[in-house]
Amino acid sequence: MKIAKKIVNMKPSPTIGISSLAQEMKRKGVDVISFAAGQPDFNTPENVKEAGIQAIRDNHTKYTPASGIPELKEAVCRKFKKDNNLEYSPDQVIVSAGAKQSIYLATQVLLEEGDEAIIIAPYWVSYPDQVELTGAKPVIIDTTIEDDFKISAAEIEKYITDKTQVLILNSPSNPTGSIFSESELEEITELCVRNNIFVISDEIYDRLTYDNENATSIASINDQIKNLTLTVNGASKTFAMTGWRVGYAAGPKEVVGGMTKLQSQLDTHCVSISQHATIEALEHGEEAAKKMVEAFDERRKYVVKRLNNIEGVKTNIPKGAFYIFPQVSTHYGKKFNGTIINDSVSFCKFMLEEMKIALVPGSAFGDDKCLRLSYAASMQNIEEGLNRFENGLKKLKD
Ligand SMILES: Cc1ncc(COP(=O)(O)O)c(C=O)c1O
Repeated sequence: MKIAKKIVNMKPSPTIGISSLAQEMKRKGVDVISFAAGQPDFNTPENVKEAGIQAIRDNHTKYTPASGIPELKEAVCRKFKKDNNLEYSPDQVIVSAGAKQSIYLATQVLLEEGDEAIIIAPYWVSYPDQVELTGAKPVIIDTTIEDDFKISAAEIEKYITDKTQVLILNSPSNPTGSIFSESELEEITELCVRNNIFVISDEIYDRLTYDNENATSIASINDQIKNLTLTVNGASKTFAMTGWRVGYAAGPKEVVGGMTKLQSQLDTHCVSISQHATIEALEHGEEAAKKMVEAFDERRKYVVKRLNNIEGVKTNIPKGAFYIFPQVSTHYGKKFNGTIINDSVSFCKFMLEEMKIALVPGSAFGDDKCLRLSYAASMQNIEEGLNRFENGLKKLKD
């Protein structure tokens, strides 16, 4: 038996891997505090759950159109108009099994062997692997914590070649919480339009923002970039619906049409029941989402303050999502019981094994100097987890 190279070369999702390991340790009775979660620690709002139950009672349990049910696509258009100042028609929308699947479909439609896709690091873990699955080359651009993990259009331009087809943007960002401002996006717009580069804009955290920040959709800058952008979003993060698997995307009909064709040959469509529940979330989920953001904001402020008071730990101030990406590399080179901690993986392994806290190594996101801490955890666990983190650092010796 021969396993295809593209699968052999593919890495399993590292974030899912650490979460599963922490869960496994918990099941065995180990008192692990997990900062590895990529999902809200809240439950799906009651009205949304009820809508799912009602959908089953109403026998919405059969196949749906490949791109999603019309009522949901209409609700998605209303969401884009209300929140993102974007005018789309339902035939420009596809609903899929999570934003992850929307991005997968988009990369398959837009990229092939010989092409290049620009990805800004730190990046969400799946982008490089999804690009590689198409045969195209991911071109990674590094950023620094001093620049709030952002990059200017002038810097991006240096990486553009005649093979560049796609730029993947993620604002607010997982793992850094950084948000591109409107003026930064205007410059990126000019660059992409001038070079005919298509943008996959992953806006899954657009409703989870703090300090009165507004996450601008790049497609709202002007019509030229709107015709060159796929705007991706989903129900997972905003409405605590990760397990329901609902993502959606809107953009040029040729792109969405290609994605729909591919989806019809893959999993046919997003789960019918989840689609019905998502209409309720989009139409009546605002209050629950707002409460969640308030809780995340309180934790964010606490985490930023605590981390910045720890010697040798540096952070930016996340403006969105529910992650912080502290730089801890000044501790690399130190030892614990003779074992040297020399990168983000050995650092997180030490924190998990010795301090019983689960963090995700920064190398998974393309920045080995840092690690990702998700504050989608209770305040009590955050306090205790950060105590352990601080005590763990004290155990490392030169
Ligand atoms: C930046 C980003 N994009 C997309 C996703 C995928 O979300 P889902 O497939 O649950 O919609 C995630 C989930 O962690 C994410 O962090």
